Amino acid sequence: MTATLLVDIGLLATQDAELGEIRDAAIILDGPLISWVGRVASAPEADERVELGGKTVIPGFVDSHAHLVFVGDRSEEFVARMRGMPYAAGGIRVTVAATRAAPDALLRRNVERLATELLRAGVTTFECKSGYGLDVATEERSLRVAAEFTPETTFLGAHLVPPDTPRDEYLSLVCGEMLDVCAPHARWIDAFCEQGAFDVDESRAVLQAGIARGLGARVHANQLSAGGGVRLAVELDAASADHCTHLSAADVDALAGSSTVATLLPLAEFSTRSPYPDARRLLDAGATVALATDCNPGSAYSTSMPLAIALAVREMGMTPAEAVRAATVGGATALRRDDIGVIAPGRRADLVVLDAPSYVHLAYRPGVPLIAQVWQGGARVV
Ligand code: NIG
Ligand code: FE
Repeated sequence: MTATLLVDIGLLATQDAELGEIRDAAIILDGPLISWVGRVASAPEADERVELGGKTVIPGFVDSHAHLVFVGDRSEEFVARMRGMPYAAGGIRVTVAATRAAPDALLRRNVERLATELLRAGVTTFECKSGYGLDVATEERSLRVAAEFTPETTFLGAHLVPPDTPRDEYLSLVCGEMLDVCAPHARWIDAFCEQGAFDVDESRAVLQAGIARGLGARVHANQLSAGGGVRLAVELDAASADHCTHLSAADVDALAGSSTVATLLPLAEFSTRSPYPDARRLLDAGATVALATDCNPGSAYSTSMPLAIALAVREMGMTPAEAVRAATVGGATALRRDDIGVIAPGRRADLVVLDAPSYVHLAYRPGVPLIAQVWQGGARVV
């Protein structure tokens, strides 16, 4: 196996508690893993040497929340929203009709296109949900296609009750036959716990059925209203409560006292012109925070983790260091992974090289393409 020495790293923000930030740093990649991290001056030799010209290196971003299996777009809905229409859960139906009608090859092509965008945006690991099929066959093939691109697949049959199925019947299907067929292709189960989607008891039933099948839980919680989604996530020890836009004091306390990550999705607030979640409040209370894209054709059609970071700093009270942390090790924690999100010996060699003197520039220079290189599993991919 070839070892590669990356040298002349102006600033290395490892996200590792002990290693911290290192100036004039070097890293050795040995096969798919990192084998050494430290100052250039004390770097051992390796087979290959790559000069980074004083650039900044951070871990590859971990996008713990994305909906990539769909076809079509909803740009007209976006235009209507920008003219004042509010966002509602029901828009999902438009994408469901198009997704059901699409052959596997078309679904695959769309996931591939978005996965490529994510990689160019520095995302080296992403989660991918189903949820635009809402029938047994389309949910199953959505997850099969997603699993071709990532091990972090999530069954989201409980995204919305489809118009062609009575509510009780659909819930039995999601907890029964649909789960049976989907569970082999999924690592996680998710439910959209929200007015207009599923209430707390319905979401609990779905998530518990998934947990009983060996899936981990994650919840779309408190996106549009301060309902009981966050507390349900904590009750079930879900890996993550996602959105967290409308939180009561009890919700914040529950998250802070749990191992459920608060995953914030500012691209959704941007694209739905909604108030942003208060990351400062969560961090000050002691909650673990992740940032993710929520890439989907309705509420957030973006793969830009750098833009999510910029919004988190500008609008949500995070420091640049906290935002980068949330987009790397925060996302890894939301996926309960300890092999990614940090630059340290033994971790996967997933790295982003920024054409900037510091990661602060991700927020300070919003919208500017600062991603110079991406390394995934020890190989340069961008
Ligand atoms: O996370 N909130 C539920 N699901 C997506 C949006 C789905 C859609 O509008 O198509 C979200 O924002
Ligand atoms: Fe979502």
